[in-house]
Amino acid sequence: MSRRKIVAGNWKMNLDRAKGRDLALAVAARSAEAAGVDLVLCPPAAYLETVGSALGLSGSTSPSGVTLGGQTMHDKAGGAFTGEVAPPMLVDLGCRYVILGHSERRTLFGETDAIVNAKTKSALAAGLTPIVCVGETLEEREAGRTDAVVTAQIRGSLAGLSAVELEKVVVAYEPVWAIGTGKVASPQQAQEVHALIRSLLGSLASAEVAGKIRIQYGGSVKPDNAADLAVQPDIDGALVGGASLKADDFLGIARAFSG
Ligand code: 13P
Repeated sequence: MSRRKIVAGNWKMNLDRAKGRDLALAVAARSAEAAGVDLVLCPPAAYLETVGSALGLSGSTSPSGVTLGGQTMHDKAGGAFTGEVAPPMLVDLGCRYVILGHSERRTLFGETDAIVNAKTKSALAAGLTPIVCVGETLEEREAGRTDAVVTAQIRGSLAGLSAVELEKVVVAYEPVWAIGTGKVASPQQAQEVHALIRSLLGSLASAEVAGKIRIQYGGSVKPDNAADLAVQPDIDGALVGGASLKADDFLGIARAFSG
């Protein structure tokens, strides 16, 4: 089963407007280096419009093929939710993707699997592709609980989705101990959990549907470790934090998944 690779840059709460625009321009200008890979930039909400216009978005596609994503959203389509961003607003800004349930959202902002599940359903209803994040902490890994934790997160976050909906989801496996620490999971550690996730997806839908769902790895991905991850059979791309803030590094990772 060949799945189109997807490399997304999660800029988190970094850069300023001018630097964000310059980075988007640089990635767009060089996107051909990563032919065949879906490239997604996820800037802070405040800069979605600036980055979208740097990418030359018209509707939701850009001439360079680089697309835009949000880092989070509310599950409601509108209303009295001070400070929040609604799914249709992301669509309005040209987003095609939205990261949901990132470990920083789960640990710092109290997002539970039930909240991630509600957001996933609203994203799909709005026409956005959710990038649903799961991953264990170091403590959980050391206690031998990785499989149980990831299983519960997948089942909870994706509960009640039809096979047609599941097929549209992107899953990101991001072990919390590898995020921003420089400690990347070994390709074998990552592949093991990706294979587990794919078999869980199979049990939620069918092996055929699971075979179409893209599963990204995230956590200290850099140009020099991307190639070993990219050759693993169930790793279909990367969700990149720190290294996505430099065009050279982001494109270096994307090239590893190209071709
Ligand atoms: P780093 O690549 O900085 O480890 O961050 C990973 C991440 O959290 C992407 O969502």
